[in-house]
Amino acid sequence: MTDFGVDLGSARTVIVSGKQVLLNEPSVIAIETHTGEPVAFGQEAYEMIGRTPDRITALCPIERGVIADYDVVELLAKHFLSKVSANRMLKPRVMVSMPSGVTAVQHRSVIDAFTAAGARNVCMIEAPVAAAIGNDVDFTSPRGTIIVDVGAGTTDVAVLSMGGLAKCESARVAGCDFDDAITRYVRKECNVLIGPRTAENIKKTIGCVTERPFELAMTAKGRNLFTGLPQAFEITASQVCTAVADTANAICKAVQSVLENTPPELIGDIITDGVLLSGNGSLIRGFDEYLAHYTHIKVRRAPEPKLCVAFGTGRALRNMDLLKNGDYAFRTLQDLAIE
Ligand SMILES: Nc1ncnc2c1ncn2[C@@H]1O[C@H](COP(=O)(O)OP(=O)(O)OP(=O)(O)O)[C@@H](O)[C@H]1O
Ligand SMILES: [Mg+2]
Repeated sequence: MTDFGVDLGSARTVIVSGKQVLLNEPSVIAIETHTGEPVAFGQEAYEMIGRTPDRITALCPIERGVIADYDVVELLAKHFLSKVSANRMLKPRVMVSMPSGVTAVQHRSVIDAFTAAGARNVCMIEAPVAAAIGNDVDFTSPRGTIIVDVGAGTTDVAVLSMGGLAKCESARVAGCDFDDAITRYVRKECNVLIGPRTAENIKKTIGCVTERPFELAMTAKGRNLFTGLPQAFEITASQVCTAVADTANAICKAVQSVLENTPPELIGDIITDGVLLSGNGSLIRGFDEYLAHYTHIKVRRAPEPKLCVAFGTGRALRNMDLLKNGDYAFRTLQDLAIE
């Protein structure tokens, strides 16, 4: 059990071994501002976001699916790997999922970070390919399958056929853009400034992209922009629906753009089988219906929207045959230098 499948997400990191989830924590780290020494990781660091004193900074080092701060990701990877490794002597092989279309530099930085964190070698796999494997989708036959993975920072859309990516796009619009849209709306309509965790909480509690049959409302807290004083305010589900409409549209547009470039034979298969929707960002109420209405294709949600990508990496690790039609291999930094 020295091999790990890792979904290194902008919001959460999941590590699996076989079918066992060993870690599922926010990709957040809190560091001492002056020394760069880590103070807290994962859930503990997440609780600190927006609440730290000057000497501590809480960071999300994965932005839009890729490494934004290499040193910090190395610290995070080291902590997470040591947390799940029972045997510190054996170096693990690691299969990491990333958005489709990462550059060679981004690819290298992931291998770099995990090697420094103690991995023997690293294989990268695109998140939609991992989601397909995690959902037992047979994508090795000459038949088109479309996967839409809505994460926190990126929406990955991929058409898979014969074990590879026929068409893919990684759009920089996803779950955190719903939060930003809610923050902007509240600022404009209620003159109140709210933090990112409050916006996310509003989205998860009453958020929706299609009107609800019954109106819902909740109370949230922020700072009044005119008086500078704390203020509690009420926000309704239909207000949230208005706030997030443009973001939901932008995600659907990314799906449309992949469909536009997909060969017609594969489109025929996709119409029959429908879209498979994964990623926690897609959990906002009504998004499946909204996407189905927009694309005129039926949409089905993955039973485990977030875990399926990590499970896919774990399964691919044990059955590399699934990946034989793509350029997937366990690489070390030396291998990259030779290539
Ligand atoms: N119940 C929910 N309703 C709506 N949104 C949710 C819900 N639960 C989580 N989310 C959102 O899902 C997003 C995180 O999704 P996920 O964990 O799949 O992203 P990630 O894999 O870390 O990111 P990425 O794939 O972009 O790198 C966050 O924006 C979070 O607010
Ligand atoms: Mg993801």
